[in-house]
Amino acid sequence: MGAESNLGSMAELASLCKRRGFIFQSSEIYGGLSACYDMGPLGIELKRNLKQRWWQAMTHRRDVVGIDASILMHPMVWKASGHIDNFSDPLVDCKKCKARFRADQIDLNAGCPSCGAKGEFTEPRPFNLMFKTRMGAVENEAMDVYLRPETAQGIFVNFLNVQSTMRLKLPFGIAQIGKAFRNEITPGNFIFRMREFEQMEMQYFIKPGTQKEAMAMWKEVRWNWHVGLGLRPERLRFAPHPADKLAHYADAAVDIEYEFPQGFGEVEGIHSRTNFDLTEHQKYSGKNLQYVDQENGNQKYIPYVLETSIGLDRVLLAVLCDAYRQETPDEGEPRTVLRLSPALAPLKFAVLPLMKKPELEKVANQVFDDLALDFPGEYDTSGSIGKRYRRQDEIGTPYCVTIDYTTLEDQAVTVRSRDTMAQERINISQLKDYLKQRLLQK
Ligand code: GAP
Repeated sequence: MGAESNLGSMAELASLCKRRGFIFQSSEIYGGLSACYDMGPLGIELKRNLKQRWWQAMTHRRDVVGIDASILMHPMVWKASGHIDNFSDPLVDCKKCKARFRADQIDLNAGCPSCGAKGEFTEPRPFNLMFKTRMGAVENEAMDVYLRPETAQGIFVNFLNVQSTMRLKLPFGIAQIGKAFRNEITPGNFIFRMREFEQMEMQYFIKPGTQKEAMAMWKEVRWNWHVGLGLRPERLRFAPHPADKLAHYADAAVDIEYEFPQGFGEVEGIHSRTNFDLTEHQKYSGKNLQYVDQENGNQKYIPYVLETSIGLDRVLLAVLCDAYRQETPDEGEPRTVLRLSPALAPLKFAVLPLMKKPELEKVANQVFDDLALDFPGEYDTSGSIGKRYRRQDEIGTPYCVTIDYTTLEDQAVTVRSRDTMAQERINISQLKDYLKQRLLQK
């Protein structure tokens, strides 16, 4: 198809996400809560598909197991990990308009980006990004606890539990998916930077000295995972962290970035975290976290860690940006289409009786019920057939199945492809195999 195609802006994508039930602002009827979002019926299907792919890619390996740790953890965890002392951004306020900025993201000499006032900034001061809350029923006995800013620490504190109960030998990984919370100073770009988000993290425990090989292996594995989602490789790149910008726990790090409408941005971090976290937890907890290397004369040491850390909402945004097109086909009206890979598409098919007539709906219902045993789909009778196709294009449904009067005679339906807009006549008895072949390709 000689279709013109162009990529939309983030605002256009956000509008489609709202209009079509992918993503809503949190607490919208109260004016919204900044940098918090809710997944709608289609957003949650897409998110679950992404989650499932990651979980499968990680835990179906013979060297990685999964866990699900609690969000609230003992406060000493965050002292040991360095988050209480180091997990902060430098904050400045404009004394004139009261706007707040990250001092490292603006030119302090150029004046306030909000009101233009010069020389009105407060001194930069560290602002800790962790949300604090209190645990316990009686106010004065309550203990300060934090909403976790990363899922990784739930893995580190369970290192021995998992290693000993599962009888694991190095190298092995522990994977986890879960919510994380950061009181970001400058959130934004739709769901790119939020205050509540979900991470998919894996800590790969290795013998000290093998971190370079582990980094090389995981860089390749993770790159291929992103390409496997259908993201265009030319919109992906590796971005190594310069030595002076490394996090307090890392001796090397590289990000996988995607080219969003606002430019390249981090989707996943691959970090060589040394033995920093386990050493700290051993120190603060007083528990011996050494590994006994039975294959090397019972040598005892604290393993090194290679971490892969990806934002689930961040990669969901990359997938949506990559799939979003506005096209003008050679023949026909312009259309907006989400060219999602069939494996990720929230709905795999739509059944559309040409008209709202009982004899057509009877067959359409049977076709729907049979397909729905294997795939999530939609049944839609409202509006012209052209409008219904466009609606399915906008939410990325790969195939539409239309039942018309000829169906009653020849037991065949029209299958229309989202990507090519081509239509094929398929016998109902062949329909499921036809769709299976195409939907399960990737
Ligand atoms: N355990 C290491 C860690 O948390 P990070 O680079 O701070 O590393 C990892 O975060 C990933 O989490 C990022 O690559 C990004 O995809 C996601 N992420 C971080 N902050 C986020 C935010 N405020 N909103 C959405 N996703 C975020």
